[in-house]
Amino acid sequence: MSALLNGKIALVTGASRGIGAAAARLFAAEGATVVLTARDEAALRGLTADLGGDASYVVADLSDRTQIDRTVAEVVGRHGRLDVAFNNAGVLPPPAAVADTSPEHFDLVTGVNYRSVYFAVAAQVRAMRDTGGGAIVNNSSIAGLGADPANPAYAASKRAVNSLTASAAVGYAAAGIRVNAIATGLTLTDMTEGWERADPGVLARITAGIPMGRIARPEEIAQAAAWLLSDRASFVTGSVLPVTGGAAV
Ligand SMILES: NC(=O)c1ccc[n+]([C@@H]2O[C@H](COP(=O)([O-])OP(=O)(O)OC[C@H]3O[C@@H](n4cnc5c(N)ncnc54)[C@H](OP(=O)(O)O)[C@@H]3O)[C@@H](O)[C@H]2O)c1
Repeated sequence: MSALLNGKIALVTGASRGIGAAAARLFAAEGATVVLTARDEAALRGLTADLGGDASYVVADLSDRTQIDRTVAEVVGRHGRLDVAFNNAGVLPPPAAVADTSPEHFDLVTGVNYRSVYFAVAAQVRAMRDTGGGAIVNNSSIAGLGADPANPAYAASKRAVNSLTASAAVGYAAAGIRVNAIATGLTLTDMTEGWERADPGVLARITAGIPMGRIARPEEIAQAAAWLLSDRASFVTGSVLPVTGGAAV
C-alpha cells in the first residue's frame, strides 16, 4: 500500500510548533509536498530544513484575510495546485469566564480560531475547485462539543468551526472537495503548557476525566488529520471526529 498522502500538495497552518509541526512532519513522511505557514519564521525555517525535499514555508498572520489569500496563492504558484489543507492554527488565551471576557480576548480567539479558518476554507475551496477537488481538515476541539465555562469564547469559536465544516462539506461535495474537522482532546503542546501555568493543576484535573487516562501526543492528532485528508477517507465528509482518548464521547 502506498503512503497515505503520496504526491499530494499539502498546506499546514500553525506549523511552527505543536500539532501543526507534528502534522507537517507526518504528512511529509507520508509522501506529501508540504507548505508550512505560521508567524514564527525561525521555527518554520528550521522545520522546513529538517523536512528537506520540496517542503517550503510562507510566513503569514492568518488573522489577516489578505495574508490567508496570499498563502494559498503561494502554494498554487509554487506547485500548480493545492490538494489537501490542515487548518490547525489556533489560540487559547488565559481562561476567562463569560462575564470576565474582554473584547480583546473575544476578538483574538474569534479572529484566529474561527474567522481565519472561515476565510482559509474559502480560499482553499476556490483553489481546489480549479483543479478538480481536494480535502480540508479543520482542527476544532473537544471544547466545541459542549460547555467550557473556563474558556467560553474559545469553545464557541470551535463550535463555529464545526458548523462551517458541515456547511462547506455539503456545499462542495459535488465539486469533489471533502471537509472534515477533528474534535481534538487534551494534547501536550505549548498551548496546554500555557494553560497549566495560568491554572496550575488543570491538566491533571482534565486527565482524570479522560477514559484512557493520559494526554495525547501531537502526533496522534496528526495521524487522524492525515487519514481524513487521504484518499482512504474518500467517502468521509462533514464529520467532526473525536480524538479524545474517550472523553466526551
Ligand atoms: N493542545 C490541545 O490540547 C488542543 C486541544 C484541542 C484543540 N486544539 C487545537 O489544536 C490547534 C493547534 O494547537 P496546539 O496545541 O498545537 O497549539 P500551539 O502549540 O500553541 O500552536 C499554535 C500554532 O498556531 C499558530 N498561530 C497562532 N496564531 C496565529 C496567527 N495569528 N497566524 C498564524 N498562525 C498562528 C502558531 O504559530 P505562530 O505563533 O508561529 O504564528 C502555532 O504554530 C489549535 O487550533 C488548538 O485550538 C489543541
